[in-house]
Amino acid sequence: MMGNAMVVINAMPSKIHEAIKKENLSIEVTTRCTSNCTYCFVRSGSSEYHDLDYRTVLSIIKEGYEIGYRHLHITGGEPLLWGHLFDICDNAIVMGYESIFLNTNGFLFDSNTLKKLKSIKGLNLSISLLGFPDIHDTFRGYNSFIKTAQAIEMALNHNIPLYLFCVVGKSLLAHLPHFVQWAFQKFPGIKEITLIQLIRVSGNADKVFNELLTPDDFVSLVRIISLLNVYGFSVSLLENPLAAVVAQMLELPWFSSSPHLIRPGRLTIKADKSITIAHSSCQSLGTYSRGKLHRILTSEVYLHGIEDDCNTCASCKHMAVCRKAGMQRPSEPFRDMQETIPYCKRVLDSLL
Ligand SMILES: C[S@@+](CC[C@H](N)C(=O)[O-])C[C@H]1O[C@@H](n2cnc3c(N)ncnc32)[C@H](O)[C@@H]1O
Repeated sequence: MMGNAMVVINAMPSKIHEAIKKENLSIEVTTRCTSNCTYCFVRSGSSEYHDLDYRTVLSIIKEGYEIGYRHLHITGGEPLLWGHLFDICDNAIVMGYESIFLNTNGFLFDSNTLKKLKSIKGLNLSISLLGFPDIHDTFRGYNSFIKTAQAIEMALNHNIPLYLFCVVGKSLLAHLPHFVQWAFQKFPGIKEITLIQLIRVSGNADKVFNELLTPDDFVSLVRIISLLNVYGFSVSLLENPLAAVVAQMLELPWFSSSPHLIRPGRLTIKADKSITIAHSSCQSLGTYSRGKLHRILTSEVYLHGIEDDCNTCASCKHMAVCRKAGMQRPSEPFRDMQETIPYCKRVLDSLL
């Protein structure tokens, strides 16, 4: 308290308090990148670049730790381009963070970098691979497949826990079973192939629009993942609970639970200091300053944003089956180009 001014600190709802113990606090440290991906939601449509400064990131991780976060997600742009990465990771582990999940394209790996990464307690890496060489190079730049494959092998040689992040558009979907089998053979030791449904972003070239999955494609994707899981391949679909609903309706075995993109405890601080719930969402909840994480997590806008939907879903005949499979709100509008009828409804209607 200063003078007569009273600072009111809202108590954190227990639902949020419990969630953040398990949730990643996501930080986009830079939007600069060593790749030039045509489909990237971070870079598309903008020629400006942003970097967070060291003191801001230190403040974010301190505040995050104080309010209960124990897991960090560091992303970009390309986080290995950001000069303070190792200092921040060291600080986070000393503070008491239990794990750090780092997204990278691996282009800047050398043995020194990999030794440093290996020495970070609780570090898991993802490297992005978009499919066989022709598909990968089409979307991530000429000759990038070779660099990516080398990076994957280097990380595995250093025994760093590694996930392959594979964005699925129509091109990869057409070869997915073959690709998954090939990737596990070529890179034995990867922990998982994490598939990510391609989403629409501003400023995309037409060829990316044409890659978005239609409702029928999405159903095929679920069938393929289910079969791959039955055959013992560790494959999941990131933050896409609609897959579990489809699997349930088709009576397919479905092994991986897939939380919603928007969920309690989720926060991302972007390189321009804006704060959003998820990395791919654009709706800013404010600009970072000390104390802001707590204020946002206890704000009405945030609490309303992560609530179960009771408008669109209430008038949808699929609501009961969705809730049973853990889907609490409609698909995000950026799943394809049509916004009038939610993507999830069109997918589920196609099964009737
Ligand atoms: C934005 S990148 C940043 C980290 C790093 N530079 C990399 O290449 O992985 C993080 C992940 O987001 C994925 N991503 C980017 N744009 C996407 C989109 N439009 N739809 C789905 N995933 C996307 C990337 O493929 C990558 O796996």
